Amino acid sequence: MTFLFNSDARRGAIFADAFARDLPDVPFTIDAATVDPDAVHYLISWTVPDNLARYSNLEILFSIGAGVDQLRLDAVPPNVKIVRMIEEGIVRMMQEYVTLAVLALHRNLPAYLAQQRAGEWRDIPQLQAGSRRLGVLGLGQLGQAVLDRLKPFGFPLAAWSRSPRQIEGVTCHHGELGLKEILAASDILVCLLPLTEDTRGFLAADLFAKLPKGAALVHTGRGPQLDHEALLAALDRGHLSAAMIDVTDPEPLPAGHPFWSHPKIILTPHVASVTQPATAARAVIENIRHHRAGLDPIGLVDRSRGY
Ligand code: NDP
Ligand code: OXD
Repeated sequence: MTFLFNSDARRGAIFADAFARDLPDVPFTIDAATVDPDAVHYLISWTVPDNLARYSNLEILFSIGAGVDQLRLDAVPPNVKIVRMIEEGIVRMMQEYVTLAVLALHRNLPAYLAQQRAGEWRDIPQLQAGSRRLGVLGLGQLGQAVLDRLKPFGFPLAAWSRSPRQIEGVTCHHGELGLKEILAASDILVCLLPLTEDTRGFLAADLFAKLPKGAALVHTGRGPQLDHEALLAALDRGHLSAAMIDVTDPEPLPAGHPFWSHPKIILTPHVASVTQPATAARAVIENIRHHRAGLDPIGLVDRSRGY
């Protein structure tokens, strides 16, 4: 019943300590070269290893990240459970990042940074938070946590998911009609959707056109959801005012790409949230306990939905 850790050695050492302390009856290794493949029942990885078939007794494939689009789900045998990472470190970091981005856009930071570079001392009319409507696409672990953290600022909050939801203090929308409604009423739009066939290329010209003039975008989902040309066009003709972008396609963004120097874009290199090994190890160990007790692990991926 070995657990194979297929990621960086630094985080592996922290996982190894946690397993030795909290789940000593499950042997732990980071050494895929010497492990007996038949002994591997649990594997954690960012992508699906090419030689996955050698682990014929695999029960759970854990994603080391919250997203699973980088895993080729169809390369994983149907009897193997796929579990995404839900852990408090990722959640906390995403709350911090989206709060930072929303406040930066709300307080016109991209425009002030441009003014600073131009040596220009000039105030920009400032809306109060109660008049700046915030819409979050994706009402999962991260979308909900982000909304919760933003509540005290007083922005009118709305969110959008596939299935209907009810959250106190948040106007919840779902489905096609709900998308139209949330877009028409979002002055700052945050994308926290998983990448699936439905959401690939989702942040495109027709979606931007449905946002109010002057709206801003925070993108922390996945790079292939965003049409770069469409964003640049919407910013350059002034329909959108600014964007804070954490994920691009490709990553890293090539040198010379217009996002690097665009005055209305703040760019970060896919760092909104990063799996924290100590809390992640705790979550994985808890999930193995769940699984051994005959319960579904938390974060079990629904292969038919793709997330
Ligand atoms: P969850 O799976 O918990 O939630 C996904 C949400 O998106 C759900 O509310 C779901 O709706 C909704 N959704 C999915 N597809 C659609 C659709 N077609 N139409 C409408 N709503 C849809 O995901 P998390 O909140 O944990 O994470 C979201 C994403 O954030 C990850 O997949 C990953 O790509 C990204 N991420 C980015 C990081 C970064 O550093 N930039 C770090 C971590 C994650 P429903 O509730 O109805 O199922
Ligand atoms: C994740 C990520 O999915 O780092 O965890 O983007």
